[in-house]
Amino acid sequence: METTNTPFETQVIAIGNQKGGVGKTTNTVHLARALAERGRKVLVWDLDMNSGATKHFGIPTDAFMGTFEVLVGDEEPLNVVVTNKEEGVSLPDNLHLITSRRKLEAIDETLAAKDKFLARSDVLLGPIAALRGRYDYIFLDTAPNATAPTVASYKAADWFVLSAIPDPFAIDGLRDALLDIQAVQRRGNPRLRILGVVLAAVDERTRLARTLADYVTGAFRTGGAGREGEAGAAEGSVRFKTIINRSTVIPTSQKEGRTLFETDPQHKVTEQYRQLAAEVEARIAAARDGVTSSAPAFSSQLPADAVTPELNEVVNG
Ligand SMILES: Nc1ncnc2c1ncn2[C@@H]1O[C@H](COP(=O)(O)OP(=O)(O)O)[C@@H](O)[C@H]1O
Ligand SMILES: [Mg+2]
Repeated sequence: METTNTPFETQVIAIGNQKGGVGKTTNTVHLARALAERGRKVLVWDLDMNSGATKHFGIPTDAFMGTFEVLVGDEEPLNVVVTNKEEGVSLPDNLHLITSRRKLEAIDETLAAKDKFLARSDVLLGPIAALRGRYDYIFLDTAPNATAPTVASYKAADWFVLSAIPDPFAIDGLRDALLDIQAVQRRGNPRLRILGVVLAAVDERTRLARTLADYVTGAFRTGGAGREGEAGAAEGSVRFKTIINRSTVIPTSQKEGRTLFETDPQHKVTEQYRQLAAEVEARIAAARDGVTSSAPAFSSQLPADAVTPELNEVVNG
């Protein structure tokens, strides 16, 4: 694999879509795992009370302190990072995890009771600052609702990766996520940029899959000069060129609490995640090398006619 040197500053990547079941956790876990295979030092931070990422790595959700304790200010993030040094934990050497558990459901009430002047959206700023410099990548896997951890992740991240699957609800979720990102860019986190949109669980034979791909390519067109044809980009679009196919190996590995890199290292979908990781690194390198300024890397604007007639038909039956 490649170098183990830290190639650049820590990149904090939030993965989102306002809907659940659209591949956020699967993409987070496998992208992180693929980057670890490339020799990068990676932290996955599970910010969802459903603990999808924690479970996918085979870690019991009540075994460790984690997100809840950090967000209420009882623990420093470094004290709750889980590594393969813990008994019974099998993570790759350079992949660490902050776990979540059901208790996180109560986070908003707990924060409000603790300090009514505390801004929910700021609760990750201190912890992320404390973790910068220790990892190449920090992935924030969020819940599909606007609870404190989700809102805070938008404010603390450098990049946003959108997840979508061929499902009309996923497309609605993309629109909502995009509006939220634009709001956060205006108020609070002007650094936040969209890194790309991942299309996952795609069965290329279906019409809906093709419609989704066309929609995302069109709606997330790159704006700035010099962005077209950028390494790895679907031409003129923020959509990642690599598409993740639908396959039963994913739910199977998930149930086993392992990633595809452990269960099916040579599978086509595993290879797709390797390619996606390469695209992610190419885009970040391009941004760092000054292809882009402090302006958003992609001026993603949803035009009023973003929903194509064909998509409308799919959505409305
Ligand atoms: N490429 C894929 N092929 C088949 N099933 C998938 C794929 N990606 C995700 N899934 C399944 O879809 C469901 C939702 O995925 P998940 O990543 O948990 O979504 P989210 O985090 O957005 O709620 C899971 O059951 C997962 O196994
Ligand atoms: Mg999830």
